[in-house]
Amino acid sequence: MKIAVLADPHIGSTNPVFVPNWEKVVADVNARSDIDLVVVLGDLTLLGSEEPQDLLFGRTALDALTPPRLVLPGNHDVGDIARTSHQPCNGERLARWQEHYGASHWHSDRLSGWRLIGLNSQLIGTGLAEEDAQWQALEDALATCGSRRPVLFTHMPLFLNDWDETDRPAWALMTAGRNRLRQLIRDYNIVAVVTGHMHRTVQLDIPETRLIWCAASSFLTYDQSMPEQPGAALLGLTILTLTDTEIGVEFVELADLMVSRIEDFNGTIYRSPPKD
Ligand SMILES: [Fe+2]
Ligand SMILES: [Fe+2]
Repeated sequence: MKIAVLADPHIGSTNPVFVPNWEKVVADVNARSDIDLVVVLGDLTLLGSEEPQDLLFGRTALDALTPPRLVLPGNHDVGDIARTSHQPCNGERLARWQEHYGASHWHSDRLSGWRLIGLNSQLIGTGLAEEDAQWQALEDALATCGSRRPVLFTHMPLFLNDWDETDRPAWALMTAGRNRLRQLIRDYNIVAVVTGHMHRTVQLDIPETRLIWCAASSFLTYDQSMPEQPGAALLGLTILTLTDTEIGVEFVELADLMVSRIEDFNGTIYRSPPKD
């Protein structure tokens, strides 16, 4: 069984610069005959957190995909974890997401032998009522897996370099949520944690699980403007192969994508958060 993970498309009607890349990734997925499911791993839109028409644009764009799909939001879609942000994730932004895409977290038993669990990372650490509901739903989904093996999908990585690093909520989950997930990963033998957001690719086996950072289709970044991070710069998509026991990873670089780095747009598209 194969899942095509599409991370960080950053498409929108307000600025369509990354739409041609999205269309090429969609064409690649549709041309494959072996994809059972697509997971869109957040930052589907460029400015959905600020411009509702981008959420509608993203929703409509999904109709071009042939396989069935599950969709998660990212910071560009529903806002930031940090309460001090100019665009915090809040009830209003979550309601706008839900209007177009349904629930912002879910689980699915669509693939035999597996339970796919999607978390809205933008809730984790916010203290919103929706965060409590998500933790409850996660614990229920894990407790009722039975013989199914659980795998987590969420936009933000657990951490950039290690479990004990300083909180940087623009880049990764914060300590309390990260540690709570760490315990659940151990307790329920979560096979892998599949994330986007960093626009870098990583496959890293740690004692607790397998960490997979998925390829973006939109843009790359310059190392000097980013916090220290692992991984490789690659634009394309990620194919997960689910066997009886584990999840294999293939990062697919698509040669005909426009390759750009967000800093070269000089803030005209989106201003990246400071690296610290
Ligand atoms: Fe992104
Ligand atoms: Fe992101």
